Amino acid sequence: MDINYVYQMIKTEVESVEKELLSNLDSDVDMVNEVASYVFESGGKRLRPVFMILASKLAGYSGNRAIVLSGVVEYIHTATLLHDDVIDGAKFRRGRKSANNVFGNDITVLCGDFLYSRAFMNLVKDGDPKVQMILANAAKTMSEGEVFQLVKTAEFSLKLEDYLKIIYSKTAVLFSACCEIGGILGKIKEEKVKNLAEFGKVVGLAFQMSDDILDYLGEPEKTGKKPGTDLNEGKMTLPLILLRDLADRDEKKKLRDIIVSESATDEDLAYIISLMEKYDIKAKAENFVDDYVNKSKELLKIFPENEYRDALEFLAEYVIQRDR
Ligand code: IPE
Ligand code: IPE
Ligand code: MG
Ligand code: MG
Repeated sequence: MDINYVYQMIKTEVESVEKELLSNLDSDVDMVNEVASYVFESGGKRLRPVFMILASKLAGYSGNRAIVLSGVVEYIHTATLLHDDVIDGAKFRRGRKSANNVFGNDITVLCGDFLYSRAFMNLVKDGDPKVQMILANAAKTMSEGEVFQLVKTAEFSLKLEDYLKIIYSKTAVLFSACCEIGGILGKIKEEKVKNLAEFGKVVGLAFQMSDDILDYLGEPEKTGKKPGTDLNEGKMTLPLILLRDLADRDEKKKLRDIIVSESATDEDLAYIISLMEKYDIKAKAENFVDDYVNKSKELLKIFPENEYRDALEFLAEYVIQRDR
């Protein structure tokens, strides 16, 4: 199996989601539509819709609600990216200039708000209070996660547990919501819905950890993002936490100074990467992530083996691919 095979399996649905995404950009204010079109036309893997659609199919559902709700989650995701790039001062996204870099911070933040509101209008139209609560809770948790991350900026002693809390909130909760909603659409037993929610959560954690590894060790041509961004922002992420716990006293002191300064130079980044090589952090971090992926696949065993389960298992591996 490869990613194109998965997109092909649900080609009709994915195409309908693309139409859905563009069809709601109907603001009277042209600038809003311009910014929104800019981000939607810049690609994006549409991972969250793909997870939701596959989970719904695994649950035996194949109707239009999966399309509408996929549009909703992709809007929420895109809104968080717009806001995240403003907060992070990111210059690039999806291999081109980030929206904040083109339209400025003020417009970008407000267009993020527009997308949130547009998402929630469609969610209300869908009319299912249970699904509404799951997504309202996800959006709330995501903002809390970004705030908590800011509060923990430059905290060199950040506990692994707090790191996991941050990435659960900012990333995994939405993947979990997508998979859970897929199960709810299929009206399957509660126990199975729970497993889907947990599957999404564990995959989401693995995905963000792998993004954090790529932030040090990935290639910009493939990730579409500049490496070293997390370091510049004083973010303590998985590779840095593992390195901190292995480094000797002198190295630890140097590392602490770099993080606390929140203005790492290219030289600092090169130093950290060389330490990561010395302590084999890439392999250690990847092993850590692999455990999560294996756990996620276990959670699907409650379902009969079929092409949708296979595709979800494949995706759990795909999202952590180092060359994505
Ligand atoms: C980026 O998410 C933000 C993270 C959670 C790491 P994606 O990698 O899914 O972003 P797009 O939509 O494909 O650009
Ligand atoms: C993920 O965090 C952002 C959200 C889920 C909002 P990052 O800040 O690491 O994401 P990238 O690396 O900018 O895509
Ligand atoms: Mg960011
Ligand atoms: Mg990142």
